[in-house]
Amino acid sequence: MSEAEGDRIAELAKRRGFFFQTAGVYGGVGGFYTYGPHGASLKDNLEAAWRELFVTREGHMEIDAPTVMPESVFAASGHLETFDDMILECPDCGASHRADHLVEDNTDIEEAESLPPAEIATTIAEHDIACPTCGVALAGEPVEEFNLMFETNIGPGTASPGYLRPETAQGIFVDFPQLSQYARNQLPFGVAQIGRAYRNEISPRKGLVRVREFSQAELEQFFDPETDEPPLTRVADVSLPLYSATQQAAEDGGLQELTVGEAVDRGVIESDWLAFYLGLSLDWYASVGVDMDRFRYRQHRPGELSHYAADCWDAETEIGGDWVEVTGFAYRGSYDLDKHADYSGESFSVFEQYDEPVTVERPTVDPDMSELGPRFGGVATDIADALETRAERDPDAFDGETVTVEVAGDRYTVPVEQTGFAVETVTESGEHVTPHVVEPSFGIGRLVYTALVHAHREDEVDGETRQYLALPPSVAPTTVGVFPLMDRDGLDEYAQRVAGELRATGLSVTYDDAGAIGRRYRRQDEVGTPFCVTVDYDSLEADTVTIRERDTTAQRRVPVDDLGETVLALRDGDCRFDEL
Ligand code: GAP
Repeated sequence: MSEAEGDRIAELAKRRGFFFQTAGVYGGVGGFYTYGPHGASLKDNLEAAWRELFVTREGHMEIDAPTVMPESVFAASGHLETFDDMILECPDCGASHRADHLVEDNTDIEEAESLPPAEIATTIAEHDIACPTCGVALAGEPVEEFNLMFETNIGPGTASPGYLRPETAQGIFVDFPQLSQYARNQLPFGVAQIGRAYRNEISPRKGLVRVREFSQAELEQFFDPETDEPPLTRVADVSLPLYSATQQAAEDGGLQELTVGEAVDRGVIESDWLAFYLGLSLDWYASVGVDMDRFRYRQHRPGELSHYAADCWDAETEIGGDWVEVTGFAYRGSYDLDKHADYSGESFSVFEQYDEPVTVERPTVDPDMSELGPRFGGVATDIADALETRAERDPDAFDGETVTVEVAGDRYTVPVEQTGFAVETVTESGEHVTPHVVEPSFGIGRLVYTALVHAHREDEVDGETRQYLALPPSVAPTTVGVFPLMDRDGLDEYAQRVAGELRATGLSVTYDDAGAIGRRYRRQDEVGTPFCVTVDYDSLEADTVTIRERDTTAQRRVPVDDLGETVLALRDGDCRFDEL
């Protein structure tokens, strides 16, 4: 983002209480921000809008899991081993830098994250890249992997390590067996969660864009990949701005504007479920204040994919010339459920009943515990369970002399003759299916930031420059400001009464009687309040007030009696201001 745009929003955000660096009295701490009163309201409104679509309207479940989880969860999910960024420490001033960002900032290379550390180190040397903090040359300095999870201890002592969750998703995956029961084991179903996630980012930057504690709104859509299809017709005509991996690799590749239906038919988006969620989400972004001329869906290139993803499209917004990822739409397959099944030895599948019973060949095992027990001790039963799972999923693995299974991250090799492996012909009434997952994962802070940047406007009113935030009325922190023209003659009591009545309808209202009326309008314009109501001497006579629209500054005189209904209709888009 351009310095000017970032600085302007940071200044406005701090001055008017949207967000500011936490613990400023102690010099602040990198990557932690406090949402002030306006920011907290804006964030709440965005989350409510997300919940309205992804939970209420789509009919999904919502949960609220802890933010600290035991080590086993992240050993299984792969975060312990692979949730790393590349770090380079300056030998002179000791500042830590994200090595891939140093490369991106100083060369033409994009997505340096997908390069191995050795290549990053070579590129830094070849381009004579210097420390951005002190200017010392960084050639020859080691580039290392740094795990982004915050580690802690659960309870006193160190016996039970835990981690602050780096994504809310694992709270859903790890309790899938329970959640599946609440869904009556009927696929497809979705589970949503809004909450905090933590990443010990090497170099937090750009305001709310890269921080160490942030809010995510995630939906895990579970489905049977063989039989379940999304309701694609609902979004088939939605036009998507797509920047596919193929277009990114092509010399003259650019954005393609395709409907969801076209994108699926042409194979630009391979998964129908991903396509469905890209289509479903598009209008939502506009409704929370994203400028859709500064928005695109970009597919990950192969080297860029997370350890769990088979395909991923990011929703990106443009801020000061940079594209910022605000949502990841990932096809996670059965990766997470398989991993938790392997590590826990529990079932993470759903039993699906057939319409008619069918006769099938079923691989079974009957491990010889008199051999496994003495050889593997306490872990023998887990090995037997793992053999059963392996036989179900991958019977060909039993074709050789030995078969290998994984238990809690360790691999065990067992002679096939000790597994009692056999293929039986049985009549089955249904089958166990491990669902696949498509996950829309929204970063709330980045969306708050985008909404502020995209809403920021300057114009001239009464010969003066005015700054205002053209936020959609439905997400603006305050919906209506109420002012008495003068703080006397009963105008103040009348205006207080109006404010109280508006609050009683559930509207977010601010009352301001300080200073000239023009100044009061400017204060509300700057925090994005879409409507202001002024009580004047005519109000006392005729029970009418003036209502002013933020963006046009137009004013109308309306009866005070149905003011609440009028403002609600304006906020919810049921009525336009020029129709008053
Ligand atoms: N469960 C999938 C997941 O966490 P991700 O792409 O790593 O995927 C999802 O994160 C979203 O969370 C991103 O699109 C972004 O909006 C937000 N996010 C990730 N890291 C962030 C950070 N350090 N600061 C602010 N937001 C972040």
